[in-house]
Amino acid sequence: MDTYERIADLRHALNKERGLGKTIGFMPTLGALHEGHLSLLRRAREENDLVVMSVFVNPTQFNQIEDYEKYPRDLERDKKLAAGVGTQIVFAPSMEEMYPEGFDTVVAVRGLSDILEGASRPGHFQGVATVVAKLLNIVQPTRAYFAEKDYQQLQVIRRLTLDLDIPTEIVPCATVREPDGLALSSRNVRLTPEERRAATVLSRALKYVQDIADTGVHDAFVLAGWLARTIEVEPLAKLDYAVIVDRETLQEVERIDNSPIALVAATFGKVRLIDNRIITPAPGLERRG
Ligand code: PAF
Repeated sequence: MDTYERIADLRHALNKERGLGKTIGFMPTLGALHEGHLSLLRRAREENDLVVMSVFVNPTQFNQIEDYEKYPRDLERDKKLAAGVGTQIVFAPSMEEMYPEGFDTVVAVRGLSDILEGASRPGHFQGVATVVAKLLNIVQPTRAYFAEKDYQQLQVIRRLTLDLDIPTEIVPCATVREPDGLALSSRNVRLTPEERRAATVLSRALKYVQDIADTGVHDAFVLAGWLARTIEVEPLAKLDYAVIVDRETLQEVERIDNSPIALVAATFGKVRLIDNRIITPAPGLERRG
């Protein structure tokens, strides 16, 4: 596996591969790889000739400087894990390489960035959109892989590639879960054992709401109410939001006829977690609410 720290060196290497007609699959990361990342890399390996992963802890998407400073960094471990699933190239730029003196441009996906996660974390999606636009420009991949777990981020990135005519195919990848349903996240290791147990309420609440929908309840506000109440019953969960929204615009819907998505965010101790699930209407059942 080759590691590049300089944009010019990476571009040179990738131009050669592109010249040979190879397809490039790309996964940007903040490092701290877990099984969720590895599943994306495996998929990228299956679908492309060459797999590139970037590791860059992007300061502009962190709201708290302590979170940025404390973010786990172990490039050697990440490289070993990525190589184990067939990643051929790692791009690990320095801060100066990504944001040299005089850097003064931002990419902002308006609307989508200011709601839900964006309302709780002002500036977060601008930081994500800017760094992802830069990385897609640097790597120019055939396909780029993003987790559906970070659903709002996925929508922001889809929008920006459409709006800026970036010719990379954005590939959404299914959330990887622990056996008890908890969505994999780099943040899970920061949960205490009690918080870890409590955090399963998110996936349980999402499943419960689908179970209610399966009985014929198609009113999204009724279902979102159940979602919120189920999470609030867990004493260690501090609910931020529980909503049922259109899958593209992320605006709340009144009914679930078009299979919208339920999005939840809650804090357990000091750890903020998110999860989501597409909610499908019960086929053929009469409306009950
Ligand atoms: O999801 C992440 O890990 C980050 O937001 C990303 C896409 C690598 C941008 O820094």
